[in-house]
Amino acid sequence: MGQNMLSLTDQRTGLQFEVPITDGTIRAADLKQIKTSPDDFGMMTYDPAFLNTASCRSAITFIDGDKGILRYRGYPIEELAENCSFLEVAYLILNGELPTDEELNDWIALVKRHTMLHETTKKFLEGFRYDAHPMGMLISTIAALSTVYPEARDIQDPENRKKQIARLIAKMPTITAYCYRHHFGLPYIYPDNDLSFTENFMNMMWKLLEPKYVANPILARALDILFILHADHEQNCSTNTMRAVGSSQADPYVSVAAAAAALSGPLHGGANEEVLHMLDEIGSKENVAAYVKKVKDGHGKLMGFGHRVYKNYDPRARIIKWTADQVFTVTGLNPKLEIAKELERIALEDEYFIKRKLYPNVDFYSGIIYEAMGFRPDLFTVLFAIPRVVGWLAQWQEMLTDPEQKIARPRQIYTGSGERHVVPIDKRHGSTVGAD
Ligand code: COA
Repeated sequence: MGQNMLSLTDQRTGLQFEVPITDGTIRAADLKQIKTSPDDFGMMTYDPAFLNTASCRSAITFIDGDKGILRYRGYPIEELAENCSFLEVAYLILNGELPTDEELNDWIALVKRHTMLHETTKKFLEGFRYDAHPMGMLISTIAALSTVYPEARDIQDPENRKKQIARLIAKMPTITAYCYRHHFGLPYIYPDNDLSFTENFMNMMWKLLEPKYVANPILARALDILFILHADHEQNCSTNTMRAVGSSQADPYVSVAAAAAALSGPLHGGANEEVLHMLDEIGSKENVAAYVKKVKDGHGKLMGFGHRVYKNYDPRARIIKWTADQVFTVTGLNPKLEIAKELERIALEDEYFIKRKLYPNVDFYSGIIYEAMGFRPDLFTVLFAIPRVVGWLAQWQEMLTDPEQKIARPRQIYTGSGERHVVPIDKRHGSTVGAD
């Protein structure tokens, strides 16, 4: 018996099988040889929520959920947050290496060339009602960009891909700011290429009548750090969507729109908005214990707690707490922080949360910071999408260039009826047609 082989005995037939193990993993297709008869399809694995199934090989992001480790291309998230800018990290995630100063300047220049929206896209955004949820506006507008850039369909050309990637990263803040200003009927502010990525975003969001809007440098850096923390997170729900849709060779705009739709759900990127609603519902520190009890009794979840992969403190939540302190020196304390800290304290001491290894995740504190900076809660998930587009596109590109990847198409276990035949409508059970 080989060392890197798994021996299996099918008790139904008594037959033995050897299946190769690579990287601690067996290939599900190797189980197909296990059959009870020649016309049996062969053994499958059943894993409805990908609890223990690798869907790809990836060199982008490493997570050790038990130890609370997160690395992009091998670099610890803490080092990247401390030493790099968001666009520098975006370059790393997309290209595999940190840029030299020349590479970084070229990359920044490329992104800046693509920050503007086509005027017809602006008109498209104007068609939304004033109270449209920004996530719905974002998803639709990204999908609409597919009609503006039809050449994006040529996904096999690396140069073309690079251009669409830069376009998408560059336009996300512009779309977001336009969504926000649309709600208030404020005139849209065109991008200003003299500014950094985050300063430009803040300018498009908040500039009013002042001749020159000057972003607070502490807040601009805090936003940059938050963008770094959200840039990728290996095979999460939206990234899996990006890969699945992209595997059909759909263009990157519609694929990113689909990924953003997955992100919008409250169990994924939508959680940051839900945390704020939860803190509003709790109302004050004194009500925290009763709220935790309600959750333990099965009424709802603690939003911003728990993670499929992290069974230890989310390393991003730790950096976010530090970033929050910086932000509050400028904005003053967000009163919801007190409730959040009390919630964390009580939950981390509680047997229910300890037993299930439920810790605060990235969304627990990010909303409190965003709110203190002046963002409305319905924009929080959009703020998550701005940097995550980098991860989606890096993973999409990796998938397209992976010779092993094919169109994503899972199997199913059919649980419906066996073959049956159509009965005329007047003869069907309970039918009144033709009845006396
Ligand atoms: N509050 C209370 N209980 C929670 C919980 C939460 N936030 N998250 C998980 N649990 C409980 C589940 O009810 C389950 O309990 P049980 O074993 O008694 O049935 C147990 O912990 C395991 O949870 P499960 O739903 O199987 O975990 P998952 O890996 O499928 O889900 C999340 C992961 C993130 C979807 C889940 O933790 C969640 O819904 N969190 C809140 C939303 C959120 O913050 N999402 C952002 C993620 S970055």
